[in-house]
Amino acid sequence: MNYHQAVYDVPSVFESCDRPKKPKAFDNTVGGLIPENLVRHGLDIPDLPERDVVKHFVNLSQMNFGVDNGLYPLGSCTMKYNPKVCDEIVSWKTVSDLHPLQDPSTIQGALRLMHELEQMLCEIGGVDSVTLQPAAGAHGEYTGIQLVRAYHEANGESRKEIVLPDTSHGTNPASAAMVGYDVLELPSKEGCVDVEAVKSAVSKDTAAFMLTNPNTLGLFEKDVCEIAGIIHDAGALLYYDGANLNAIMGKTSPGKMDFDIVHFNLHKTFATPHGGGGPGAGPVGVKKRLEEFLPVPRIVLKDGKYQLDNDRPKSIGKVRAFFGNYAVLVRAYAYIRLHGGNGLVSVSENAVLNSNYLKTLLKDTFELPYGDLRKHEFVMSGRPLKAKGLKTMDFAKRLLDYGFHAPTVYFPLVVDEAIMIEPTETESKETLDLFADACKKIVAEDPEVLRTAPHNTARSRLNEAKAARDMIFSWRGYEKKMQADAEKARPC
Ligand SMILES: Cc1ncc(COP(=O)(O)O)c(C=O)c1O
Repeated sequence: MNYHQAVYDVPSVFESCDRPKKPKAFDNTVGGLIPENLVRHGLDIPDLPERDVVKHFVNLSQMNFGVDNGLYPLGSCTMKYNPKVCDEIVSWKTVSDLHPLQDPSTIQGALRLMHELEQMLCEIGGVDSVTLQPAAGAHGEYTGIQLVRAYHEANGESRKEIVLPDTSHGTNPASAAMVGYDVLELPSKEGCVDVEAVKSAVSKDTAAFMLTNPNTLGLFEKDVCEIAGIIHDAGALLYYDGANLNAIMGKTSPGKMDFDIVHFNLHKTFATPHGGGGPGAGPVGVKKRLEEFLPVPRIVLKDGKYQLDNDRPKSIGKVRAFFGNYAVLVRAYAYIRLHGGNGLVSVSENAVLNSNYLKTLLKDTFELPYGDLRKHEFVMSGRPLKAKGLKTMDFAKRLLDYGFHAPTVYFPLVVDEAIMIEPTETESKETLDLFADACKKIVAEDPEVLRTAPHNTARSRLNEAKAARDMIFSWRGYEKKMQADAEKARPC
């Protein structure tokens, strides 16, 4: 595949046009309704015709790579193609013109949709109740761990510790710590939870055990039921990180595996693209004994009408304004209804099939630790590249030159030079074959070509550490930074 990204070396719209400081004919006080001290007297944004704005954003999009461009095999983060019909439904006026402060009697359809989505997630997750409020996976974890605390407190216990394995996603220990728990990380054995380590770690101080299954190596934790027994016998709860359900829908469920709490990332499994800073949704499901602690309001069906129930004295309270990210909820509802139960089963079957197919094509090019069979994703080691003085990062950057987004790299931490690939169910065999061919070709290339990659993209290799440390998200931020730098450089 011959790939070249577009490059538009033109000034940005902010540089190329004058920005009016004063609005034209416009009553800023909205007829005196806005007090003078709150009125803004201008908007520091470019004054451009629509034609130029469209050109600006289309050009920018062509200098980028998205899931609609091609394979985006980001392990753990799931970048699968999302059916366009789900976006179309969200743009309907009946969805986009609602206001969250409308009286419930005027939004019966929206309340019904959310109520039904809760029930469908209960079925998929094997739980009894779901809240749709949390805005992301990590927010779901934070909510879930608050439920853990509320549960133990209601039982008169103040347990101090959350236990989790070293393969867990970074947000797990972070969420536990944010709620105020100590975190105990257990080393895995052959990529899975070491049952003996769990036995010796768990005590009357354990509040919960957090687990992702299949874990982030793509391995199914086969001892999960024994682990659940150990945790429950100690009076602790079992938390399932269900950020990614792509492998198990209709095959098993967190509830069947005896978990008490689960969060779902709707933006990984159910039709909203993950990443890119867009909004997500991290609903949380629980078994019956935790239901009374869920956030308010609960959507209930009473006398044939959907109503908001705030009368839940043991609730942990509200965790998000209004109903959560409604548009993401609508997309998930549409996706689930579009596929139906059998369709979701084939999503999972194809996700696992694609992952194992690609793993088989690549396992001799890289190293594949921990046995053979994988679920929806697999993790290889880029260690063989070291012999040529190369790193996994060099390989990842070179992939961009072939028109593929790079996989997740350097996670999970238990694999040296990790390359974490999740091909997803939406990619064809032809695409997976092309991807595998590109990987093999890259490994055989002149090391210098890899070290200096990418070459065919709009921008060459970026300083990612600087981008993370020195975050500038807007032109205004950039201008502020330039000003501050100029101040610093001025001789005193
Ligand atoms: C396994 C796992 N858990 C939790 C999260 C956190 O989700 P979010 O990014 O929506 O906060 C992710 C995110 O990719 C994940 O992969």
